Amino acid sequence: MTAQILDGKTYSGKIKDLIAKDIDTLKNKHGITPGLVVVIVGENEASKVYVASKHKTCTEMGMRSDVIRMPESTTKQELLDQIDKLNKDPEIHGILVQLPLPAHIKADEAEILNFINPDKDVDGFHPMNVGRLGIGEEHLVPCTPYGCVKMMELAGIEISGKKAVVIGRSNIVGKPAFNLLLSRNATVTVCHSRTKDLAAVCREADILVAAIGKTKFVTADMVKPGAVVIDVGINRVPGEKKIYGDVDFDAVKEVAGYITPVPGGVGMLTIAMLMYNTLKAACLQHK
Ligand code: GUN
Repeated sequence: MTAQILDGKTYSGKIKDLIAKDIDTLKNKHGITPGLVVVIVGENEASKVYVASKHKTCTEMGMRSDVIRMPESTTKQELLDQIDKLNKDPEIHGILVQLPLPAHIKADEAEILNFINPDKDVDGFHPMNVGRLGIGEEHLVPCTPYGCVKMMELAGIEISGKKAVVIGRSNIVGKPAFNLLLSRNATVTVCHSRTKDLAAVCREADILVAAIGKTKFVTADMVKPGAVVIDVGINRVPGEKKIYGDVDFDAVKEVAGYITPVPGGVGMLTIAMLMYNTLKAACLQHK
């Protein structure tokens, strides 16, 4: 058996088609252009690529997109002052501070993210939005796990009643993925570095979400035949340009029922959901 490929381009295209009509209505009927600002501090090369991609998509979708580039030496207070201005600007609906932050302000990450107005928090990282997701009141939801779930829904994959296993417990992917799957009535297990016999737990999964950041961590023997395998990994191997997922794609596709490739899978959904969140944030602020 060879798995059906969940192609990021197809499903991100479907999401963008769905929101394009609403962007048009907001602009032409209500005179509101949704506006996103991405703040990037320092010179992280991978971050520059991600930010350029967010800017391009946002502009293509007819929304306002500003990128604020701040130097590596930026202090916590300077960044908070910038966020304060954006919080108060009525033409800016979504604010995203690109991570990782430079080393000297990394420890302040929580304080910085918590300073963003929760209604402009298109990353869904603010404790208010984390809490809302936890009690089943989805407001602004982290883009990557949201994209995983939306892709399954658009592909007609049933989540309710299924056994789902999430590998990884990060605040950005693992924990919100747990909540999203649980609120869609899956029975969810979260595995992490201390999980005993992780392979056996994974083999029980009807839906397996890999978000650990280790190249080819999920091997064919860890996958139940016919399972849905969602690969959130974006791993770089020193000296190679290519990026690798957390799943050994070539071997696992022979066992799984559905699988997402890397690249060309979940990453494209992340950007589509950022557009969705920007539109949603604009609607929230003009209720
Ligand atoms: N860096 C890598 N992915 C992300 C993301 O989804 N949001 C932010 N803010 N930074 C990131």
